[in-house]
Amino acid sequence: MEHVSASKKRLIEEYCQGLVRFKDPKPGVSLDLVATHDAAKKKLREVAWLFKNGKTDVVERGILVPGRVGVGKSFLIDCFASECGLPVMEIGEFRSKWVGDTERQQMRILMTVRALGPVIVVVDEADAVFGSREGDSDSGVSGRVFAAFAAHIGDSSLRGREVWVAMTSRPDLLAIDMKRQGRFGLSLPLFAAQNADDVANLFEVVARVKKIDLSDEVLAFVREELGERPLTGSDVEAILTRAKEQAVLAQHDDDVRLEDLQEAVSSFVDPLDPNLLALQEIAAVLSCSDKRYLPPRYRDTDRGALLDEFARLKMTTARR
Ligand SMILES: Nc1ncnc2c1ncn2[C@@H]1O[C@H](COP(=O)(O)OP(=O)(O)O)[C@@H](O)[C@H]1O
Ligand SMILES: [Mg+2]
Repeated sequence: MEHVSASKKRLIEEYCQGLVRFKDPKPGVSLDLVATHDAAKKKLREVAWLFKNGKTDVVERGILVPGRVGVGKSFLIDCFASECGLPVMEIGEFRSKWVGDTERQQMRILMTVRALGPVIVVVDEADAVFGSREGDSDSGVSGRVFAAFAAHIGDSSLRGREVWVAMTSRPDLLAIDMKRQGRFGLSLPLFAAQNADDVANLFEVVARVKKIDLSDEVLAFVREELGERPLTGSDVEAILTRAKEQAVLAQHDDDVRLEDLQEAVSSFVDPLDPNLLALQEIAAVLSCSDKRYLPPRYRDTDRGALLDEFARLKMTTARR
């Protein structure tokens, strides 16, 4: 696995002018730190296993990870990367305002990926990084950049050497030919908590990571009062951070009490537009064609109805 040493990684980062970044495995970080998202974790553990055992010829070329903001996409993939034992390279924003630079930089990145050998390539906010086939007003640059990505990812001779992982809250903005089999054919959508078990799991796992002890009384409150809320990992992180702050201010630092949590919950407002979040959630559902990766309530929903709802939300959110 150590076929790319730390010094080589730094050289490569320099060669690509900081437009790629290696994610180094962090000790003790694994998918166990991720709450809920069971189906996605299971699939990613299988991919990690295939890589560790050299069975790379059956691994997908690309994995799409859609989900609303804050649901834990970046965190899940960081944990996966750490668990995998493979070099993980993240592609950053490489577009430049200088004529010719954008395509030259993209070529460097793709050449580097090709030369590396077993590697996971991570693209966050993938809809923006890949762009679309119809470049708007840039004399065809976006179109060519998109085409180069599509050709590279569609190159099946690279199967088993590279897995691409693309995260986005708007998979609908990703061109349809990126989503076909052979490119990002596998979609692992992530969702906010669906029930009290999910909410409790989020609180337990995030509290463990933040080294906060939650009493049975607090956990009972979480189930009772918050069990119905569609909370995400980042919501729970925000609530627990506030509760901890309350505890520290009240000078019982190591003991987050029920009143601290109640105070944190009552002052917590999700700052994001609920319509936009609903839009992102439906986009995630629509991007997935495998029921195993959908929460039960979406498994048998009519696609036509979802598309209608999606169109309605798109209108509502565009007006602002
Ligand atoms: N399922 C989860 N389990 C544990 N922590 C989570 C989870 N989802 C989110 N978090 C926490 O919330 C933070 C923000 O999530 P992030 O991965 O940035 O969301 P996204 O990339 O989907 O917008 C993470 O850094 C992590 O600390
Ligand atoms: Mg993210």
